Amino acid sequence: MILPTISDGEDKSSPLKNRIRKNYKHLRKWAKRTNTDCFRIYDRDIKEYPIAIDIYAGKFCVQYFSFDREDDELDTAEVDEILTSLFGDCQIYSRSRVRRRKFEQYEKRGENKEFFTALECGVKFKINLNDYLDTGLFLDHRTTRKLVAIDAKSKRLLNLFAYTCSFSVQAAMSGAAFTKSVDMSNTYTSWGRDNFELNHLSAKTHLIIRDDCLKFLDYEREKYDVIVIDPPTISRSKRMEEMFDVQKDYINLISKSLRLLEKGGVIYFSTNSRKFSFDKEVFSRCKIEEISHKTVPEDFHKKNIHRCWKIIPC
Ligand SMILES: C[S@@+](CC[C@H](N)C(=O)[O-])C[C@H]1O[C@@H](n2cnc3c(N)ncnc32)[C@H](O)[C@@H]1O
Repeated sequence: MILPTISDGEDKSSPLKNRIRKNYKHLRKWAKRTNTDCFRIYDRDIKEYPIAIDIYAGKFCVQYFSFDREDDELDTAEVDEILTSLFGDCQIYSRSRVRRRKFEQYEKRGENKEFFTALECGVKFKINLNDYLDTGLFLDHRTTRKLVAIDAKSKRLLNLFAYTCSFSVQAAMSGAAFTKSVDMSNTYTSWGRDNFELNHLSAKTHLIIRDDCLKFLDYEREKYDVIVIDPPTISRSKRMEEMFDVQKDYINLISKSLRLLEKGGVIYFSTNSRKFSFDKEVFSRCKIEEISHKTVPEDFHKKNIHRCWKIIPC
């Protein structure tokens, strides 16, 4: 586990530096205790600094939120200097988070293939802070992964829109009997396979399927005790007949998943869409509870990062 130490002392001239120090000192104790070295150390806490800083095994990922345009030149000097003064010489990866146009697709940013391993609750994950839009592990779902892992112990888990299979890997490491992860992307299913291998988990009991989840749900006949549905807000690919839109497709996704649920089973449904509205009336035969207040972790200060519901047929 890599958890760098941080320099002491208050710097009256830099509120950002003081805030990062305070957050990190507090979180480092928890991180050590839980065997976790990837978490958020700053989350837009100060209005003048609308950035998020994540640490992954001693490397930093800084996201600059600018919502209207792609900045020509990202000015990273101040934050880089602060992180270096606090943590000494360190690797800092900066990225600008710009609201994407509806049809823009993205998977790759660079070609350096700089992969390394980070730990979440003692489980290993393959991370890349440079070459893709996302890092391989969505940190805001750490607590959701734990909740799913507890429910899936000795049981069967279906993970839809699995990305790098983090829900399945965390559950498998907590004793899930069987997992199946479905994602349309070749890149991410193969990354998921690497995550299982990193943790010495068998490919015989932890299956990965590359397919469109909506198509998969039409032919799948096996039953599951826990189903995770964590789709993107929108997505379009050559492999799909129509564009996926969470607001348009969630009823279909949940209805088809309910057919695959064992008696006593549970569905976790999550979205990052800010505008999403869940019409519970549609599923009148289910108990539906929004659990976002439990699933957004303490290190995420912007609590609208995702929303999550637990769906249990009555
Ligand atoms: C928001 S990420 C999922 C995050 C993941 N649940 C996690 O926590 O790590 C969205 C994923 O959905 C996949 N995807 C998008 N549309 C899809 C579709 N129609 N069928 C299957 N996978 C899809 C993308 O390849 C991407 O990996």
